[in-house]
Amino acid sequence: RRPISLPRLAQMRAAGEKITMLTAYDATFAAVADAAGVECILVGDSLGMVCQGLPSTVGVTLETMAYHTASVARGLHHVQGTAWLVADLPYGSYGEGREQALRSACQLMQAGAHMVKLEGGGWTADTVRFLVERGVPVCAHLGLTPQTVHALGGYRVQGKGDTAAAELRRHALQLQDAGAAMLVLEMVPAPLAAALTAELAHCHTIGIGAGSGTAGQVLVLHDMLGMNLGRMPRFVRSFMGEGDGSVRGAIAAYVRAVKDGHFPDDRQHAWSA
Ligand code: KIV
Ligand code: NA
Repeated sequence: RRPISLPRLAQMRAAGEKITMLTAYDATFAAVADAAGVECILVGDSLGMVCQGLPSTVGVTLETMAYHTASVARGLHHVQGTAWLVADLPYGSYGEGREQALRSACQLMQAGAHMVKLEGGGWTADTVRFLVERGVPVCAHLGLTPQTVHALGGYRVQGKGDTAAAELRRHALQLQDAGAAMLVLEMVPAPLAAALTAELAHCHTIGIGAGSGTAGQVLVLHDMLGMNLGRMPRFVRSFMGEGDGSVRGAIAAYVRAVKDGHFPDDRQHAWSA
């Protein structure tokens, strides 16, 4: 397999092939996910919950993100992995503005990331442009943005109703215009995610709880293995029973299900009722 790159992802999209993304936080799981055919590995700040036992992602530091990013990068290197490595800029590491964001992004890039992800709408566009101009690929993140859970009032669907949908669309276009090459859409109505995907030709949408109309899908590793400390979100499916009983089999089943359009299906709605 050839290493996954931005041109390769654009090719996949042009060919109508779904992009798969999965989180990983350590060397072994990253290597297993890579071997199972996952194109994009996300060192998500969800590691605050699944690795550190924190109540939200708000407590995750840049130092912790760099530590896990380096672990994942070493795991991929060890098996000559081909995955595209995305790392989350954590809470408080980019909000001050573009210089702070670039300094933080450099730490994650030097730890082995190929792309950084940050949450938020139009206010981040200036930062996104600044990073992209300086050679840091950026993935944006709209909809439910867990770092702002306290401002949002909980983990609930975003972009419901015409006004909210129009605002989300405006932010998405601003972020694409600023050079974001990828956009995670978390818990937004499926029709909105599909419409945005059609409109954003240069920015690949990656959905989670956003229906099947996005260019790709992402899940939290522990969730899709059926391991969750809290309440399992509705949009998650456990793939542990769908492969050969191994972790690698479960991840391969996830990749297959995304590629052939069987995941997500209507049972993984996050937006209704
Ligand atoms: O931190 C994370 O795992 C994420 C994904 C759920 C998109 O941001
Ligand atoms: Na995250």
